Formats: sequence, structure tokens, C-alpha cells
Amino acid sequence: MSNAETLLARARALRLPGDFVFGGATAAYQIEGAWNEDGKGESIWDRFCRQPGVIIDKSSGDVACDHYHLWRDDIALMKTLELDAYRFSISWSRVQPLGSGALNPAGLAFYDRLIDGLLEAGITPYLTLYHWDLPQALQDKGGWYNRDTAHRLADHAEAMARRYGDRVRHWTTLNEPWTFCWSGHASGEDAPGFKDGAKGGLLASHHALLGHGLSVPRIRAAAPGAEVGIVLDLNVPEPATQAPADVQAAKHFELAQNRFYLDAVFKGAYPAELRALCADTWPDEQPGDAAIIAQPLDYLGVNIYRRSVMQAGGEWPPLNFQRVSPPGEYTAVGYEIWPQCIHDILMYVHRDYAPKALHISESGMATPVEEVVNGRVEDEVRARYYLDHIDWMNRAREKGVPVKAYFAWTLIDNFEWAYGYTVPFGITHVDYATQKRTPKLSAEVYREIIRAAKRR
Ligand code: FCB
Repeated sequence: MSNAETLLARARALRLPGDFVFGGATAAYQIEGAWNEDGKGESIWDRFCRQPGVIIDKSSGDVACDHYHLWRDDIALMKTLELDAYRFSISWSRVQPLGSGALNPAGLAFYDRLIDGLLEAGITPYLTLYHWDLPQALQDKGGWYNRDTAHRLADHAEAMARRYGDRVRHWTTLNEPWTFCWSGHASGEDAPGFKDGAKGGLLASHHALLGHGLSVPRIRAAAPGAEVGIVLDLNVPEPATQAPADVQAAKHFELAQNRFYLDAVFKGAYPAELRALCADTWPDEQPGDAAIIAQPLDYLGVNIYRRSVMQAGGEWPPLNFQRVSPPGEYTAVGYEIWPQCIHDILMYVHRDYAPKALHISESGMATPVEEVVNGRVEDEVRARYYLDHIDWMNRAREKGVPVKAYFAWTLIDNFEWAYGYTVPFGITHVDYATQKRTPKLSAEVYREIIRAAKRR
């Protein structure tokens, strides 16, 4: 058998139930382009990409995959791949250019077309309200440092639920608050680019979670029957050695990345240990905030790409952790390929928080830029990545974890934030000169996994 045939045979042998949901995921800024068309307002990513030196290839999402115009082709592509579902995000500044006040009819109509097109194609829409592209007008008023932004998010959530709630059942408030709050406000690699350390990460995170909590009941009221959740990027941390300082570093990382968000959402309180550790930089909370954040949810989405091996050191005092890269296989963004991570994080969340349902809302890998040769992209490593990760996810499912859906990150190659277009994550290749889409071997393998489940 050729390598491709071996991979396809492995796909056929996977045992997932027929009602398991397989989808592809994207985010507005990474694919839509049309950054200033039809009345769209500026977002923090539109602004950030114009700063010299922040995007590795000096690119931006101005055009990206031109999905704003090519959405029909992209739905046709999803149909070819036999996807059950599509996870996408709304560009807030497209539907409400200033982040408050007037809505933009042309922007709203775009998502009407997209949602209607998906439903006609038999693909279930999973809508994310906030995937990092805050309207610049809200940033100008302080962005996530301003408590008021939480209320603006809740207004946005209600407006979207009113408009699309008759057709969209699955709603996610925030995508990865850890990353957009800490990379945007602590290290500054992402928009808005603040380098304010733990103080910035914590303050932005508190307001983002408050926005989540305020949004949930507004969505439920405007769209009865909606299933509402949040997407967190979680990691199973491991200490690099058993030295007490490394064990402590792994613990601090776990508190900051996982438990801060999980405890707030599922237990109604931030971890006391983290609060004590970061006493000098802890954000102001108001009475009642904890209860607002801990809304009952229908599901938790988990984005998981790797495990995290930590040692004592550099990042963000007083947290003092830094990542180490043990010998192994790595992706183009330097993530270790460690398929068991998906099993371990599902077991961890199920054991400690028991959400009603879990989704793997993102999973996938980056390669160096790929070429189409004779109409094909033979991304065997990525195909194997999906097989291995879905297999490990399924082991957790078989042990009783209620994981119901898996979304490949990502449907099509796209703008990978500070990495620009240098590290494609897609199961579909995009030629940016022609906007031609070519499904890769990994897409064929993924379709075979979906077909195998449907046969059961
Ligand atoms: C996640 C983001 C997503 C994409 C992947 C690779 O952190 O949610 O937009 O960048 O990583």
C-alpha cells in the first residue's frame, strides 16, 4: 500500500459513533479579507498589522482567503469534504463598525448569506461571537482593560442572537481568552500589542470572562433553545524535572492558563492560590462578578494543540514559568506533536469540572509553506496528526467523557496572526495569488474518518 492508502485504511478503522459531529473551524479575521468593504469598521487586528515588525512576513488579513467574496465556494468545499458542521466567527466590526451603536446592514447580510448557505448545504453552523478582532473604536476607549467592554460584548451577543438565533443553535461567546488576553496584553505578540505582563493578562481576562458571563443569558433570552458555551485553550502541564522549582513552575502555568478560567466558569471563584501569588497585580473585582461569570453552560469547547513541559524561569513574574522543548517531533510553529494531549486534557476537564458536553473546538498542525504538485498536496504528517489525535480523543470518549464534536483547525490555509502566511494549518491548500483551494491528503483522510463514523 502507498502511504496515502495506509492512512486512509487507518481512517476507516477508527470507531466513532454515527452522531459524532465533525467540522472545520476558521475565524473571521484569518479568512474573510474585505477589511474595509461595505461599511466594515476597523478592528484591532486591522490596526495591529500596520505596525512595523509585528507580523513575520509583513502581511495582514486585508485580503486573506477572500472568503467574504468566496464564501459560496467555501461552502461547496465543506460539502465535498462531507463536514457535518462549520465553526466560524463573526467579525464584530463588520456587523457593528464602532462596537456599539448602529449595526451595519451589509455586514449583517453577509452572515445571513453564509448561514443560509450552510443550512442549504446541510452543514450545521457553530457561531463564535468573539475571535480576537475587537472593534478599534472600543480599543480606543481602553479595550479589554475597560470594564465597559464586557457590556459591549453582551450587547453584541444579544444583537447577533436576535438576528441569527432562528437559524443558529450553537453559540460560543469567547475564543481562547487565555491567548487573546495574555498574548495581547502581557507579552504583546498579538493585538493590541501591550507588554504589561501578568497585570495586563489578568485584567483583560477578568473583563473578558465578565463579558462572557453577561452574554450567556442575553443569548438565551434572544434565541430560545440555543446551546451556549465558551472555548478555552487548555494544556496538560508537566514539570521538566522533579526539582521543586520546576514542579512549582508547572503548577503556576496550570493555574494561570487552565484553572483561572475553568474555576471561574465552572466553580464560581478564581483559584485562591493564584490570587495570593498575584496579589499585587490582581484585577479589581466587583461584588457579584463571580456569579455573573459562572453561568450554566451547555458545553465547553477545548482547543488543544500540544502538551506543555515547564521549568522555572522567565515569563511573567511572579508566575515564573517557561516552556521547554523536549526532544521530539515539532510543527512549524514549534509545537511538539504529542497526540495523547487530547486524551489527557479531556480526562482532566471531565474529572475536575464535568461539563455537560465537551467539544474539541480546534485541533490541527502547521507545516512550512506547501506546494501543489500535480494537483495534490501530500501532507502525510498532518494526516497522521489527525488520525492520532482523533484516536486518542476517542479513547477518552470510550472511558465516558461526553465529547460530542471535533473541529479541524483549519478548513483552509489562512492568516496565522503574527506568523502571517508562513505556517499553513489548513486541510485545504490556498494559493493566495489565484485564491484556488486544493484539498490536501489530510482532507481526504478526514473525510474518510467522517464516512467511517457515518457507517456505524
Ligand atoms: C488558536 C487560535 C486560532 C489559530 C490556531 C492555530 O490559538 O484560536 O485562531 O490561530 O490557534
